[in-house]
Amino acid sequence: MCGIVGYIGEKQAAPFLLDGMSKLEYRGYDSAGIAIFERGKIRIEKCVGRLDALKQKLASNLPEGTVGIGHTRWATHGRPSDRNAHPHANSNGDFVVVHNGIIENYLVLKEALVEKGHQFLSETDSEVVAHLLEENYDGDFEETVKKVLRMIEGSYSLVFLCAQEPNKIICTKKDNPLVIGLGQGENFIASDIPAIIAKTRRTYIMNDGEIATVTKDSVWVQDINGTPISKKVFEVNWNAEAAEKGGFEHFMLKEIYEQPKALRDTMTGRVTKDGKRIDFSELNWTAEEFADINKIFIVACGTSYHAGMLGKYYFEQLARVPVEVDIASEFRYRSPIIDSNCLTIIVSQSGETSDTLAALKEARRLGSRTLAITNVVGSSIAREADQVVYTYAGPEIAVASTKAYTTQLIVMLMLAIYVGEIKATLPEEKALSLVQGLKAVPEQIHTLLENIEQLKVFATQYGNSQDAFYLGRSLDYAVALEGALKMKEISYIHAEAYAAGELKHGTLALIVEGVPVIALATQDDVYDKTISNIQEVKARDAVVIAIALEGDDSIGKYVDHVIFVPRADKYLTPLLAVLPLQLLAYYAALTRGCDVDKPRNLAKSVTVE
Ligand code: G6P
Repeated sequence: MCGIVGYIGEKQAAPFLLDGMSKLEYRGYDSAGIAIFERGKIRIEKCVGRLDALKQKLASNLPEGTVGIGHTRWATHGRPSDRNAHPHANSNGDFVVVHNGIIENYLVLKEALVEKGHQFLSETDSEVVAHLLEENYDGDFEETVKKVLRMIEGSYSLVFLCAQEPNKIICTKKDNPLVIGLGQGENFIASDIPAIIAKTRRTYIMNDGEIATVTKDSVWVQDINGTPISKKVFEVNWNAEAAEKGGFEHFMLKEIYEQPKALRDTMTGRVTKDGKRIDFSELNWTAEEFADINKIFIVACGTSYHAGMLGKYYFEQLARVPVEVDIASEFRYRSPIIDSNCLTIIVSQSGETSDTLAALKEARRLGSRTLAITNVVGSSIAREADQVVYTYAGPEIAVASTKAYTTQLIVMLMLAIYVGEIKATLPEEKALSLVQGLKAVPEQIHTLLENIEQLKVFATQYGNSQDAFYLGRSLDYAVALEGALKMKEISYIHAEAYAAGELKHGTLALIVEGVPVIALATQDDVYDKTISNIQEVKARDAVVIAIALEGDDSIGKYVDHVIFVPRADKYLTPLLAVLPLQLLAYYAALTRGCDVDKPRNLAKSVTVE
């Protein structure tokens, strides 16, 4: 992971670097550092801890200079410490580098360099790059970078400074994101757009293998063989406020509240003008091509994987296509049985998750057609897939995903309806009522968000529990998994989700007096069975909070508390039922004094394997 930034221009670099890094802290926050050309030398300042620790350290002694780079780290090789913080330099400090990714062959390279007398200061894989630059420098910075790139293996976004060539920054990438922001008399480099959006919306999205030489007035891009590459300007269509908290205490809360808008934006243009049908004419596949698909794989990580689990219900039940859902890190190594009649749907908010990207490449290699559902325009996954359907959630900054999840769900549901209609597996009236239902969801979520006092009370009451269990059947089970993930990632409560019917095969042994059980009971076809499972945990003195549909008058008899969500079609209720679970996790985390937007050990975008 890690976030990297760079500045070259006429203004002081440090304020931009520190501000840009604060926008990238979601990518890692265990140490931070900057390197700036100051009076002819490169001055490096770095320290363990959050960016604030670095800011404090520099408060009265900010490096001065108009060219610099910065880094906020999520440790892979080498524990968080001052020494392992980036930027890294060779021994005399002439070559400085920040890195996001993993240099897989660093040990072999390091040994060879140590034999030649290089002294290493950190335990990181990244430091090797600075020493390689020194070892190979022949008076030409670009050529040296190319030589070094031929030696290293792994994944990286890299940004380099060279003391001998102070009027340029060089950067490159492979399997990790990097953008260049184009200014007037200044240019910016960053892992992601939020870091530069306050300065410019005009960007170059860097592709793998491209090497950019960035000066204050120019950006020159070439490949490793020196062939010039002409880049197209990508105009970012959101503004700086979208990446700010906008009055909310945390990004997560803001993003929960943005869900009605995110869902509306994601549906816009994908429903026919008469409002009756789903329209995915943006996909350039013919109806016949869809009809040929006899198997779907949905592959993703984390919350996106949970969205994929619901996608399975949607595609199987509405379009009658068999679906396998895979965790990307498993899929890529399990030799799945795939041919050209398979469609692999890759789901990823960031479009950069390393395992998910690798799974996409593997699916393609095996001959599958591929479709990406992602939130980030121009991301690696968007570029690799045959087709892309964007979610329009806007930038999601909090590590715990919320609005990206619901927009992924709505896209998969809409796609399933679309394919169901093409394949004539979905009756017209059913499709019509689903489309009507979909259009009502943003308003229903809005109503839910206006009535959350009860949730805050539960969060205070149960927020100090050690464990929590989430139960549900069918679609509710998939939502339960997401609810439990939210709870554990931000509140650190040990939260587990189970298919309610599976409880008696082991988990029931963990149910003791007073343990909170969140039971989802929104699916009519399995409602009675779920009630039986609720009774099983009640009989062991658990405290049960049910998530049920408005108008369910009987559930109160079986549980301690009920949170009602608006009544909707069974395929739509996950979009509503997940809301109280997101909020419960949020307020439980507050009760426990956790850092909601930056949970320990986690990062938003996992660009390492
Ligand atoms: C990380 C994030 C999760 C996210 C997962 C997959 O673990 O913390 O919130 O769901 O990565 O990310 P993606 O960008 O591929 O959806």
